[in-house]
Amino acid sequence: MKPLLSSPDGRFAVVQSEPWMAPALEAIQRASFPSLAPEELISAEHYAAHMRVFPEGQHAVVEQDSGQVVACSTDLRTRIDFSHYQHKYLEAVGGNWLSTHDPQGDWLYGADIGVHPDYRGLGLSTLLYTARQNLVRRLGLRGHVAGAMPKGYAPYQRDMPIEAYVARVVRGEMFDPVLSIQLRRGYNVWGIIPDYLNDPSCGNYGVFIVWRNPEWR
Ligand SMILES: CC(C)(COP(=O)(O)OP(=O)(O)OC[C@H]1O[C@@H](n2cnc3c(N)ncnc32)[C@H](O)[C@@H]1OP(=O)(O)O)[C@@H](O)C(=O)NCCC(=O)NCCS
Repeated sequence: MKPLLSSPDGRFAVVQSEPWMAPALEAIQRASFPSLAPEELISAEHYAAHMRVFPEGQHAVVEQDSGQVVACSTDLRTRIDFSHYQHKYLEAVGGNWLSTHDPQGDWLYGADIGVHPDYRGLGLSTLLYTARQNLVRRLGLRGHVAGAMPKGYAPYQRDMPIEAYVARVVRGEMFDPVLSIQLRRGYNVWGIIPDYLNDPSCGNYGVFIVWRNPEWR
């Protein structure tokens, strides 16, 4: 396992995911998305397929001392028409098999990120976002997009339209446990996607976010 990045204290390393990790990645996925519809969850079999389809796009965080896999992310390459950005999660990721991966695609599409609950708040998603942005630079892509799940929305859903909620999160007036973190990592909101997936915690919404590669020309 060649470390692509390490945490400042050296405790964690980001590596390219390897087939033996697949069961651990499935466990992270299940712990990370407790209210997501079961048919939208990524299984060990899916993760193994991702590593065959687009190995460079699959990242895992390993705790160096224990060798435990504690976080991961999944990406594919695609083309984006920003005037028609509405889509469904499962369509974008080829039913979680990444059959939609286009080796010539000029954008990286973030399919998934999850940090095991016992390891949150340690900067591990920050490490993974950095690794993904480094990949965008290395491959000379235009940037990174994703359908973020605004997981803090459910308690406000009755009283506040999603547009108002997202605007308040963008202005820093409210903290969303997913979107706020992505905004801090340099992503911007492009638009809101209703019925992106099936998860009551985010009212089934996705927020289409974009990070542009400053080196792209
Ligand atoms: C979203 C998720 C990936 C974040 O992972 P993480 O490793 O805990 O995040 P990090 O430790 O890298 O970053 C947390 C950031 O939030 C900030 N933060 C946390 N709680 C905060 C609060 N209440 N108010 C303001 N900032 C807060 C931290 O300060 C840190 O930002 P900083 O590094 O700029 O200081 C993780 O919570 C997760 O796996 N969630 C479940 C799966 C999921 O929803 N994935 C996203 C699908 S789109």
